[in-house]
Amino acid sequence: MSKDSMNVDKFRSFFPIFNTKADSSSRLSSWDNELTPSPSTIPSRRFQLWRARPDSPVRRSLGVDVIRNPCSLHYPLIYLDSSSTAQVPLEVVEAMNQYYLSYKANVGRGVYCFAERATQEYEQARATIAKFIGAKSKEIIFTSGATAGINMIAQSWASHHLQRGDEIIISAVEHHSNFLPWQELARHLGLVVKIAPITVDGVVDFEKFTELLSHTTKLVAMVHTSNVVGGTNDIEKITQAAHSVGAAVLVDASQSIAHQAIDVGAMNIDFLVFSGHKLFGPTGTGVVYVRADRIPQMSPSSFGGGMVFSVGETESSYRPFPHGFEAGTPNVAGAIGLRAAVDFVEKNIDFSILMKHETALVQTMIAGLSQLPGIQILSFQPVADGAHAHMVTFVSDKYHAHDIAAYLDRYGIAVRAGHHCVQLFHQACNINASVRISFAGYNTLTEVDFCLQKLHELLG
Ligand SMILES: Cc1ncc(COP(=O)(O)O)c(C=O)c1O
Repeated sequence: MSKDSMNVDKFRSFFPIFNTKADSSSRLSSWDNELTPSPSTIPSRRFQLWRARPDSPVRRSLGVDVIRNPCSLHYPLIYLDSSSTAQVPLEVVEAMNQYYLSYKANVGRGVYCFAERATQEYEQARATIAKFIGAKSKEIIFTSGATAGINMIAQSWASHHLQRGDEIIISAVEHHSNFLPWQELARHLGLVVKIAPITVDGVVDFEKFTELLSHTTKLVAMVHTSNVVGGTNDIEKITQAAHSVGAAVLVDASQSIAHQAIDVGAMNIDFLVFSGHKLFGPTGTGVVYVRADRIPQMSPSSFGGGMVFSVGETESSYRPFPHGFEAGTPNVAGAIGLRAAVDFVEKNIDFSILMKHETALVQTMIAGLSQLPGIQILSFQPVADGAHAHMVTFVSDKYHAHDIAAYLDRYGIAVRAGHHCVQLFHQACNINASVRISFAGYNTLTEVDFCLQKLHELLG
């Protein structure tokens, strides 16, 4: 990587999904001209993903208007949905393959040599990931993702320490995964969930947030970077205010983990969660950080094999944290893959350079979209020096978000359309869906330009 700019070509070359060569001269193939309905007649549900060649019998027999391969035969893939899940570099797949092909064994159980190797690799993954976020191994639990992690904190910590009338504060742009576990817990325990509004910069309105804080606030559960408006909260400031009234702080770092350095110690938070698949890692992996002094307040919420110390007919005892909180066979390959992803990030990403690169992509996209009539940009627009964003979310008054996404898909461009699991925000905006274009280090300005060209053709 050069000193101050992202070597995107090199970074991109690590990801097998981008290495499929497509002939750019076939961009406007007769197949597309012949079969594509005019934009105004595109019904979003008629599009299907199908791996079929244009002339295949299955395709003819289905008689569908447009069928295209997600890795298009006609267009190079332009992947603008990394906020949903990031693509994986080869070394992540190779690390997982190596486990499956040469030392697959359960962990924390067998005494034969490769079972011990599997256990060592699994624990090494825990240590590597802990170090990556400034934590200690013994403060880290593996889960299947951020959703499972938040649910586990709700059950293993909050359900034991919060009582009727206690309050939880979240923000107005929380992913459903950081809203529904609290709404459910509130229903069961008689708690109150309060929602802090956000500013035009897509971050929590700090003044309004502090007005909600009181000695009945027991937990502040806050997104770090929003997955819909892209603003990044000042967690240190929020934590200081929350701690001043005795509330614990849980941070959902699912969107920030692949885009900026995270140091749980500097943030001084109590809990943190993220999903591995957003960090160039495998799906079905996630991490929960619990600050050491909170660990004695945690009780297991899932019971079974692997977490047991001793079992009796009427009472049993469990292993200490973290193993006592990982009941059943864990996702060993996933943890090993996630460790490879963290190694990959540490080797290939300089976050300060990445942030500049992503912000430039966002700024170019916003500048292009702003020239179109009837576009409303809902996400944070970074104009100040040092501001960072990695997504652009918008609506058009001409086409539904699904139709825009389906149209772009015809040109190999993958974007997200819908409510992005943040329905409350969309309801507050009086819309039911938006288009989200999200970036990672492998995206280029050329891709942004091509996407804008297609959006101008559709919406201009
Ligand atoms: C901010 C945020 N929180 C939580 C989640 C849930 O992640 P997962 O589905 O991997 O559990 C997501 C996924 O999009 C997210 O963006």
